[in-house]
Amino acid sequence: MRIVVLVSGTGSNLQAVLDAVAEGTLDVEIAAVGADRPGAYGVQRAADAGYETFVVDFRAYDRRSDWNRALTDKVASYSPDIVLSSGFMRIVDEHFINTFEGRYINTHPALLPSFPGAHGVRDALAYGVKVTGCTVHIADAGVDTGPILAQAAVEVLDTDTEETLHERIKIQERRLLLETLGRISAKGLPAA
Ligand code: GAR
Repeated sequence: MRIVVLVSGTGSNLQAVLDAVAEGTLDVEIAAVGADRPGAYGVQRAADAGYETFVVDFRAYDRRSDWNRALTDKVASYSPDIVLSSGFMRIVDEHFINTFEGRYINTHPALLPSFPGAHGVRDALAYGVKVTGCTVHIADAGVDTGPILAQAAVEVLDTDTEETLHERIKIQERRLLLETLGRISAKGLPAA
């Protein structure tokens, strides 16, 4: 199973995938790791591990549709079976979604459909929920929407800050992501 991983930031989930592949506990072929901006640490992690990397810089395009098309073409050039959004913080358009239909997977640090968007942890904390968690799902053209593949719950503590809660969520998120990728690699995606 060939995957292209898209990141925008730190790439700690990506690192878990890189480690699992290196240890031989996850049977996927990482074709490339890309970002929407220069300097994303996730891209550096992939380069350090010897993988091909690319940047399709969102700010280098006047029109969002042109960026979307360039990103789609670049990702498609690696012929991936799966495209993984691992902290990729850009909305992609219908063209991208249609090109990788049913094969674009996203992770999100909340129990979707609650608290979608860029601040899932902050929003859950602000709402005052006592349980939140993480979701791995097939992404459609919405914001953190699409069929859910797996979820894990995380208890919110009275003492939690956004940072402490996100760190505990990420422990579950990494586990869920590796389990889900392993299942897809062995059995394929569930029928739509
Ligand atoms: C992860 O928690 C991921 O779920 C979240 O960004 C973080 C990236 O961390 N994604 C979203 O919020 C998407 N809406 P990482 O760069 O350390 O893997």
